[in-house]
Amino acid sequence: MADIGIKISPLFYVFKSGKDFDSFFAHHESLGPIQLHDTIQDQLFELLRTRNPKERFLAAQKEELILRYFGAIDLVSYGVWVFYPWNRCLVHLLPEKEFIELRTNRNQFKITPSEQHTLANKKVGIIGLSVGQSVALTMAMERSAGDFHLADFDSLDLSNLNRIRSKVFQLGLSKTLICAREILEIDPFLNVYIYDKGIDENNIDRFLTPESKLDLLIEECDGLDIKILARYKAKALQIPVLMETSDRGLLDIERFDLEPNRPILHGLIGNLDPAKLKGLSQDDKIEYLLPMVGLSALSERMKASMLEVQNSIVSWPQLASAVTMGGGVAAEMSRKILLNQSTQSGRYYIDLDILVPEPKLETKINQETKNPLSESDIEEILAWVRTEKTEELLTADEKLKIYQAAIAAPSGGNAQPWRIGFSQGFLYLIHDPYYSESFLDFQHLGSYIGFGAMVENIEIEASALGYSVKFHYFPIEKEKRLVAQCSFIKQGTIALNPLASALFTRVTNRKIGDRNLLTEAERNTLLQLNNSQTLTQFSLFEDKENLQELGDILASAEMYLLLHPIGHHDIFTKELRFTEEQVLQTRDGLDIDTLQVSKAEKLALKIANSRNAMDILRMIGGGEAFKKTTKKAVNASAALGIITMPFYSPESYIHAGSFLQKIWLTCTNMNISMQPVTQYSFLLNRLKHGNGVGFDAQYIEKFKVLDERFKKQTPQLNQQEIAFIFRISKESNPEKRSLRRHIEQIIFRQHD
Ligand SMILES: Cc1cc2nc3c(=O)[nH]c(=O)nc-3n(C[C@H](O)[C@H](O)[C@H](O)COP(=O)(O)O)c2cc1C
Repeated sequence: MADIGIKISPLFYVFKSGKDFDSFFAHHESLGPIQLHDTIQDQLFELLRTRNPKERFLAAQKEELILRYFGAIDLVSYGVWVFYPWNRCLVHLLPEKEFIELRTNRNQFKITPSEQHTLANKKVGIIGLSVGQSVALTMAMERSAGDFHLADFDSLDLSNLNRIRSKVFQLGLSKTLICAREILEIDPFLNVYIYDKGIDENNIDRFLTPESKLDLLIEECDGLDIKILARYKAKALQIPVLMETSDRGLLDIERFDLEPNRPILHGLIGNLDPAKLKGLSQDDKIEYLLPMVGLSALSERMKASMLEVQNSIVSWPQLASAVTMGGGVAAEMSRKILLNQSTQSGRYYIDLDILVPEPKLETKINQETKNPLSESDIEEILAWVRTEKTEELLTADEKLKIYQAAIAAPSGGNAQPWRIGFSQGFLYLIHDPYYSESFLDFQHLGSYIGFGAMVENIEIEASALGYSVKFHYFPIEKEKRLVAQCSFIKQGTIALNPLASALFTRVTNRKIGDRNLLTEAERNTLLQLNNSQTLTQFSLFEDKENLQELGDILASAEMYLLLHPIGHHDIFTKELRFTEEQVLQTRDGLDIDTLQVSKAEKLALKIANSRNAMDILRMIGGGEAFKKTTKKAVNASAALGIITMPFYSPESYIHAGSFLQKIWLTCTNMNISMQPVTQYSFLLNRLKHGNGVGFDAQYIEKFKVLDERFKKQTPQLNQQEIAFIFRISKESNPEKRSLRRHIEQIIFRQHD
């Protein structure tokens, strides 16, 4: 079919006599059976009743009454015979004027006859025939337009039948044709034109101005570029635009007829050039799509579904109830616009969840530690060790260097859960759980890894200043927040540690590129860091298949954390920083720009912010989308590194953290990138060392399975405690780094 509007119409016949009728019938019946529908007498009788509402006409007197009011008419030659070739139905109807009079009789006086007449001369264009079909059919039933221009390039699929009013024997037919036929089967006198190749830049002008311009455009298509293009064109022609989005009853009205300078889509997408959109990747289009759909305003079920698109479902869902309601709402609004009874533009919701609200059961998540440590808290902690005193060796400048090296240490989620400072000659490292308390940081083990890294940094910096350091971990049994007491010992010589140069360049690198293997020399340098004197060791896993399975395990744990109510709360209320303002204000947490995620993944994260949507995903066993990045990252890595230790204890984690930092700094010196992937090992400890605390039966089962799978991949580590897992790769440095809180926020006032 051509790509311009084609008029669809049944065939009209007027039979002067029974003979005409017979010869029509004989001719057409030879081509196939005809279904005959002749209720002309009933139609006349009904017309009579509607014209004489005060009278009480009895059906038994139908013939007599028709004779009295209409005279001796020949019924065969009365009105028109409409033949529908697509279903071979021949229908006898009143003449057009009477047909319209009777068919719209019950509109009165919600629609007056004069309004009905005005509407009969209106032309509407509808692009996209899901909601569009529902609008078109409702408008046709109400007769709130005379001309319908329908555009859609698609044909009917079986999966459309959940919302598009059509029949199984219409599968494969063009949606425009189905809609046109349905309209004409309601009212053959309406004018219906179809554009079955859809709308593009070549036919949009013709679509919007078939002879004279449309009175209203109802835009219901999926394609972002056509949405934008159609609006620019409609704006130029001053045609009002209506869109119903069948989620939360979202209705957009843009009265370009009344406000010719109104920005398209209420200014939500700025002055986007539609030509530019064409060349954009799917990922880049999201930037424009996001403000347009108003992500946070989507229904929770829609959010959850969007996260499952291309994972467990092919496309976003649409329900018949929403499409039908959308059809009704848009048809009513269309009528008001066409009759100049509405002047408003804007975005509106006809949302049953708001109109008929249900009380919500909110899961309250209490943080145990309500406030960060105050100076007096620190004073109290230090009171435990107040009796000891050692010689004050370091100058103020040296102390500052030590502090700077210490706070450059990495911490889980960049929480920086620490306060540090000198007191009575000792350096104290104090844990502030206010910053680190989380579902992931089970028994503060992640925090202790960070402290271990800090210890390594302090040691390296101290040796550059000519000191060695002795660390006394958890010196006070009852006060575990006091993580370390560090004494400095002056050395005769300055030992230059090659790792010192990496202290401030080390970074978490989350870039994902091509897999680039370690060289023999690199592998040896790393593995030689394993000290035969210590029990904390690390192994490299480089085999592709090994990585594939391990990547899936690590990614699954990450997904489970995100789906867990407390894990989710931690990530979205404490860890992630979505705006530059948040980043600069807190100077901690994870800046979303350091995560190296695509726009689509960023979008997924923003959707994931909704706890309700995540509950739905958990209920349906969804969430695979959240595994993608980590799986891809691990598969593209040169290796996974796993640090193990023989015992499970806070001290062991500090040692593991120190060792991690040594490996990380060594990698930095060799231009090897590193990214921890830690959810699996930390969460598993809830099962192994916490009896599954915080897990429900389903999570316990899931982690048992992950544990078994992990052990299969790492049999040589089965007798060990897994302290830390990271991936190494060869990527250029990230463009953005995590900030640190200002040093004065970390160092406590000297308490002597
Ligand atoms: C205990 C611990 C756990 C971590 N877990 C992860 C992780 O699972 N994924 C990740 O991308 N980074 C992880 N990191 C890296 C931190 O997010 C990172 O160190 C912090 O944001 C500071 O950034 P920087 O390392 O670039 O200085 C972890 C770091 C530590 C110390």
